[in-house]
Amino acid sequence: MQNKRLRHTSLDETEEKVVRLLKSHQSEYISGERLSVSLGLTRAAVWKTVKRLRALGYKISSRPRSGYKLVQKTHLMLPWEISDGLRTEMIGSKIYYHDTIDSTQSHALKLALKPHENGSIVIAQRQTQGRGRNRRRWSSPEGGIWLSILLRPSFDITYVSLFPMLVSLAVSVAIEKRLSMAPRVKWPNDVTLSGKKVAGILVDASIESNKIEYLVVGIGINFKINPRRIIREIRGINNYGAASLLDRKSKVDPVNFLQYFLFELEQMYNSLVSGNAEWIKKEWEKRSSTIGRVVSISTPAGRISGKALGIDNDGALLVSKKGRTYRLLVGDVDHES
Ligand code: BTN
Repeated sequence: MQNKRLRHTSLDETEEKVVRLLKSHQSEYISGERLSVSLGLTRAAVWKTVKRLRALGYKISSRPRSGYKLVQKTHLMLPWEISDGLRTEMIGSKIYYHDTIDSTQSHALKLALKPHENGSIVIAQRQTQGRGRNRRRWSSPEGGIWLSILLRPSFDITYVSLFPMLVSLAVSVAIEKRLSMAPRVKWPNDVTLSGKKVAGILVDASIESNKIEYLVVGIGINFKINPRRIIREIRGINNYGAASLLDRKSKVDPVNFLQYFLFELEQMYNSLVSGNAEWIKKEWEKRSSTIGRVVSISTPAGRISGKALGIDNDGALLVSKKGRTYRLLVGDVDHES
């Protein structure tokens, strides 16, 4: 069956159709004749498509009198691979795939101008001008998961500052459940492993007359990258280092991980939309590496050092200093003890 989730990509629609047919005959060869009749393509077009699919990383065996057989799917996060088995209802309703893009965030912000777009994902294999928080650069080589999601939530604007924390929670749960690792969250919304950053969240919000028009959430996950490359690029930007979740040899399927993350995110998002926010604070604090520590925070108003007590209902960090409690909504945290 043709995939209902639309996509915009430089990829050809016939590639998806051929993959679907090959997948439905996974254990046997399907003749070139049958492929061409079923898809309304010439035999030459089938052959060209198979060649393009091989270049995309699919292992397809071909035999003169038997036809074609899919031996192994690609490791690339192609749109039809993401939507095949995706259990979400709204997130990923459209998937825009790019091999290389300046920034998925910039593309998603353009999509936000179209009122019917909601839940759309923009994903790229690599970004040339990835954006981080506070106008920083975000290194985005091949092997990472770089995506932006456009959402039009009906929740109250007081939840806007809590929302990125919810996303970092969804990333953490996906890492726990799918990779059996124990990540931590670092205020406001970094995800760390052994003290090093493995994922970051960036939210661009548009608010009109006290109502959220849209949120574009950018998620960068160092899934399987060369950490040395990132560390070189972030020198002087992120002072506590970055790491890759998996090493070069790992065979974990990024598509499977991404699908699980999107499902988890949608569940959490729906819960927030129905006004259920208390659990976010609890779950976030449970995984936090910040709470209970002496921290030093650079804020737009200067540096504050004190003990991190917890987070407020809107995600603000509560820091105690000389008997006073400060509420901080933005800033970068250094853990001092
Ligand atoms: C941070 O500074 O911690 C946030 C990093 C967010 C990076 C992601 S990668 C996908 C999306 N596109 C961008 O240009 N940035 C975000």
